[in-house]
Amino acid sequence: MMKLMQQSQHGLHGTLAVPGDKSLSHRGLILGAISQGTTELRHFLPAEDCLSTLTALRALGVAIQRQETTVVIEGRGINGLVRPQQPLDMGNAGTATRLLAGLLVGQNFETTLVGDDSLSQRPMERVQEPLMRMGAQVALTAGHLPMRITGQPLHAIDYQMTVASAQAKSALILAALQADGPSKIIEKLPTRDHTERMLQAFGGQITTASDQRTITVSPAKLQGQMITIPGDLSSAAFFITAATIVPGSKLCLTNVGLNPTRTGLLSILERMGGRVTIRQRTQVGEPAGDLEIQSAQLQPIKLTAQDIPAVIDELPLVALLAATADGISEISGAAELRVKETDRIATIVTELRKLGVKITERPDGFVIDGREPWHVQDTQLDSHGDHRIGMMMAIAALRIQEPVTLANASAINISYPTFFEDLQRLQANTEVSK
Ligand code: S3P
Repeated sequence: MMKLMQQSQHGLHGTLAVPGDKSLSHRGLILGAISQGTTELRHFLPAEDCLSTLTALRALGVAIQRQETTVVIEGRGINGLVRPQQPLDMGNAGTATRLLAGLLVGQNFETTLVGDDSLSQRPMERVQEPLMRMGAQVALTAGHLPMRITGQPLHAIDYQMTVASAQAKSALILAALQADGPSKIIEKLPTRDHTERMLQAFGGQITTASDQRTITVSPAKLQGQMITIPGDLSSAAFFITAATIVPGSKLCLTNVGLNPTRTGLLSILERMGGRVTIRQRTQVGEPAGDLEIQSAQLQPIKLTAQDIPAVIDELPLVALLAATADGISEISGAAELRVKETDRIATIVTELRKLGVKITERPDGFVIDGREPWHVQDTQLDSHGDHRIGMMMAIAALRIQEPVTLANASAINISYPTFFEDLQRLQANTEVSK
C-alpha cells in the first residue's frame, strides 16, 4: 500500500522529459527483429511491457543488447526467427501479444503465447478471426490466451475491420508482410498509425489512402534502421492533467510524441479551455514537440465514438479533467475501455467515486458532473493492477487534503517505472525552473 502525495500548495513546476513511447518501443523491437542488418533504438522505454516484447524476441532467436534506453537488435530477416523452447510469456502486454500473433502466424513453427491474469481475460478473436481468413492456424482458449499458433503460408486479404484497434490492424500488417501478394485493410475508424510509419522507414511497401482508413501493404524485405523514439504522449498526459488541475502550476514537457492519431487529449483540452502551448515542433521520424502547460478552469465536454481512438489511453484522465470542469461532461462510444488492462469504465467510476466525484456509469462511457465538490468517501485507492488507473488516481490525489493510499501501485511499472520520482520532483519545485 503506497502513500500518495497530497494537495500541493504551490502547484507543479519545472521541465521534464518523459520516457520513450511504449507503442513505438514495441514496434521498433519487432521490426528490428525481422529486418536485415542492425537496428538501433534510442530513448527506448525500459518498462515491463516493452521488456516482455524484448524477452519474447530473444526467445525467438533474436540477439538484442540493451544499455538503459539504447537497444541494439541484430535483425534475422522475416524468415529467420526460431521456434522458442517454451511458451512466450507476454506478461501484461496486449500490444506485444497481438502484434507478435500477426508475425508468428507466418513462421514455420509452432508457438504458444501466455500472459498474466489481466491479459488472459482480454479478447483475442479480434486478431484470430482475420488472421484465420489469411490461412493462419490460431487456437484460443475460449477466445483468450493461451494462444497456440501453428505457422502456415498466408494468403493476402482484403479486410474490413470490425473494431477500431491499432493492435489488431498492426497484427494484420505484420501477417500481410508474409503473404502471397498485396493486402488491403480498411479500418473502422482511423487509429494510431505508428506501424505504418515505422514500416515505411524500414523500407516496407505500405500506403494509406486519403480517407485515412484504407491501408495497402505488400510483402517486402526490411532494412535495419536507427530510430530515436520521442517521449510518450500517454505518459506526458498524466503531467499535462496534473498541471491543468493543480492551481498555480506551470510545466514544460520536452520532446513529446505528437503523432496526430494520438493527440486527442490536446484537442479535447483546447475545447475544454485548457492552457497547453506546443513549442519547438520537430520531426525525426515521428512528429514531436515541447509542451508548456498552465493550470486552468475547465469547461465540460461531450465525446462520441469518432473522438475515442485518438484519446483511447487518456480517457481515465479525461474523466479526471471532467471532474474539475464547470458542468456536466458526457463520454460515449467508448465501450473499448471495458477490454483494456481492466474494465476501465468500471475502475474509473469505482475509484473516482471514492473521492466523492459525481460520476455515472454507462455501458459505453460515463457522465460526470464537475460542479459537485469532492468529498472523500474512502481513502484506500486501488490501481486494480492497471498502470493508467494507478497513475490517474495519484494525480487525482493532488486535488485533495486527506491522506490517501494506493493499493497495487507497482502496476505503474508496466509503462512508467519512474513516474513517482518525476512527480515528486515537479512537486518539490516551487517556481518555473531550467
Ligand atoms: C496500442 C493500441 C491501443 C492502445 C494501446 C496501445 C498500440 O490499443 O490502447 O495502449 O500500441 O497499438 P487497441 O488497439 O486495443 O485500441
